[in-house]
Amino acid sequence: MAESCEVLIIGGGPAGYAAALQAARKGFAVTLVEKEAIGGTCLNRGCIPTKALLSATEPLDRQEAWGEMGLRPQGGLFVDTDALRSFSSRCVEKLVGGVEFLLEKRKVRILRGEGRFAAPGLVTVAGADGIVTELAPERVLIATGSRSHALSMAAEDGERVVSSDRLVTVPSVPERLVIIGAGVIGLELGTLYRRLGSKVTFIEMLPGLFPFCDNDVAAHASAAFRKQGLVFNFKAALTEVQTAGPACKIIFKNAKGEDQFLEAEMVLVAVGRDPKSDGLGLEKAGIETNERGFVKTGEHWQTTAPGVYAAGDVRGGLMLAHKATHEALAVVSHWAGEAEPMEKPYIPNVVYTHPELAVVGLTESQAKAQGAARLKAGKFPFRANGRAITASDEEGLVKIIADPTTDEILGAQILGPSASELVHIISVAMSSGARLKDLRHVIFAHPTLSETVHEAILAAAGEPLHQL
Ligand code: NAI
Repeated sequence: MAESCEVLIIGGGPAGYAAALQAARKGFAVTLVEKEAIGGTCLNRGCIPTKALLSATEPLDRQEAWGEMGLRPQGGLFVDTDALRSFSSRCVEKLVGGVEFLLEKRKVRILRGEGRFAAPGLVTVAGADGIVTELAPERVLIATGSRSHALSMAAEDGERVVSSDRLVTVPSVPERLVIIGAGVIGLELGTLYRRLGSKVTFIEMLPGLFPFCDNDVAAHASAAFRKQGLVFNFKAALTEVQTAGPACKIIFKNAKGEDQFLEAEMVLVAVGRDPKSDGLGLEKAGIETNERGFVKTGEHWQTTAPGVYAAGDVRGGLMLAHKATHEALAVVSHWAGEAEPMEKPYIPNVVYTHPELAVVGLTESQAKAQGAARLKAGKFPFRANGRAITASDEEGLVKIIADPTTDEILGAQILGPSASELVHIISVAMSSGARLKDLRHVIFAHPTLSETVHEAILAAAGEPLHQL
């Protein structure tokens, strides 16, 4: 006999645990099913360990600036990789422990095991101990996330050809690392391993970086990364990765269609992610997916089965933890009969390279593609900002675009120090409907990096101050 269950959430990542916490706070009896660790990819294998590793190794990139400022570490900086790994693990443990504590305090029932639909309205959870629990939930949220997309011509062996899951554990520091895919994961991990001493080379099929940015911003970023020593092969088509020899041999066609090869001790495959929707028995409950396996959702994030919803990577779109959380909270608001948050929110997209890149809203090229004949655009370089100069961290720029008729801010691209924080000035402005003219007179403290955003706003408004 199946146990009745008010809210069942399958998957304990940023969508699932956020929905569980919120639904419990609103008085629902919540069961959360998770087969691995609470926190999902973000906390255990993605955002958090990479940020721990990138923060820990950032000083390695700062040595030239320190020298310029008169600081000379005696004998250089040495990386203790064991200590680095345990720092990253401690960050993960703290955050996972924090979420587990909150779930417990909110009286969320956590069922450890693999959930799958057995029939409409019936979910089974198979625990590692072999015990199967049958549940008859009133509402279900599918929040099972995503996994790295595998490439048949670069079969992962977990040793020399790996996905990001393995590389964030810092199994070793290869002398040469080849990364297939110069996307977000490739660039963040490429930055990390470059700092640790690897020679990092990318094979990327597109003609350049960051297709979600304007060309001027993307070109500035590529030039900065090249200066740091990252090597890019754009318009490159991977043919095969051979692992028989002492080093991996990576065969590809370059932009001219010529056969080329590289050798490397390790290869990272980072060519996007696939939904974890297989093995869930979705077909048994009438839950449809698209041709790539993403769960189809309609109004209120409801799937094609009544009472079953989906949030986060498993339903596609931008694969970002904060977007997943936003969707999950919106689903809970719907369950609670409350007004839902914005259906089309402004979602900041951040890449934690050095300089960082952060984007929100539309780019100039996207706005033009959507029919904007004229735009107001303002830019400001970090090399003209007092705080960036005094920190000797001047690479990058802020670019803001606005509608010339309504003065509405349409988007921002920030490449530079603390871009991941600065972008929220614009997110808040856009979300609250502020116009260029409203922001012109906001007082920004001096000297701060935030002033670059103000200066770009002034430039977009046709009143540049600290630039010609
Ligand atoms: P991605 O979509 O960012 O980049 C994959 C890259 O691989 C693309 O540039 C694509 O053109 C290239 N590619 C695909 N097939 C290829 C092939 N056969 N040969 C050469 N290049 C090929 O995907 P990525 O980096 O795997 O990240 C997955 C998701 O995780 C992204 O959607 C990203 O938003 C998310 N993520 C977000 C982070 C953040 O917010 N900071 C950090 C890491 C991941």
